[in-house]
Amino acid sequence: MAKILLATGNEGKIKEFKKLLEDLPIQLVSLKELDRPPKILEDGKTFLDNAKKKALELAKFSNLLTLADDSGLEVDYLEGAPGVYSARFAGENASDSDNNKKLLQLLAGLPLEKRQARFICCLVIAYPDGNYYVAEGKCEGLIAFEPKGQNGFGYDPIFYLPQLAMTMAELSPEEKNSLSHRAEAMRKMKQIIIDNILRLSKE
Ligand code: IMP
Repeated sequence: MAKILLATGNEGKIKEFKKLLEDLPIQLVSLKELDRPPKILEDGKTFLDNAKKKALELAKFSNLLTLADDSGLEVDYLEGAPGVYSARFAGENASDSDNNKKLLQLLAGLPLEKRQARFICCLVIAYPDGNYYVAEGKCEGLIAFEPKGQNGFGYDPIFYLPQLAMTMAELSPEEKNSLSHRAEAMRKMKQIIIDNILRLSKE
């Protein structure tokens, strides 16, 4: 049975990955099951750089096929910021609410039609020999004028979906999963695993 290392310590993400891949004949291992895995510095300029770095370095360390992710928010008016700095936009130990406040301040007075933004999720699965596959998901929206909704995390309360007239934080987890950047990337990655990795391991 193929064994895949999930290159994240985030329990929420581990759960999402497990759910997505539960019907495949693979065994998932988490970072917690490794003896002193290296801490990977996320210093890339793009989501792909960071996901690739995590997947490649941990695949080499563990000698296992390794799945890593990176995600964040791009705002057109800010030329793609906060981008790879999404988690630490308002400073190294910033809370989600600090980050949201900073973003709303930077866009103060900007009309709705100029507040385009998107969430991006990039997934990379790498072999210990350095070969890898990439899957990306996107979710388009607008930055709202004020936070609304209690669900989700991060920028969800200020990420407005015009087609639903709601913020991401007003959606149930199931609704968010049907349209999120992470869900799209995961669906694509599942297909990559089925078409390439499982098929090759059978041949
Ligand atoms: P990471 O993929 O864990 O590095 O996430 C980076 C940051 O992007 C998070 O801390 C959030 O601020 C933001 N982010 C990523 N995905 C989402 C999402 O689904 N909703 C809200 N914010 C998100």
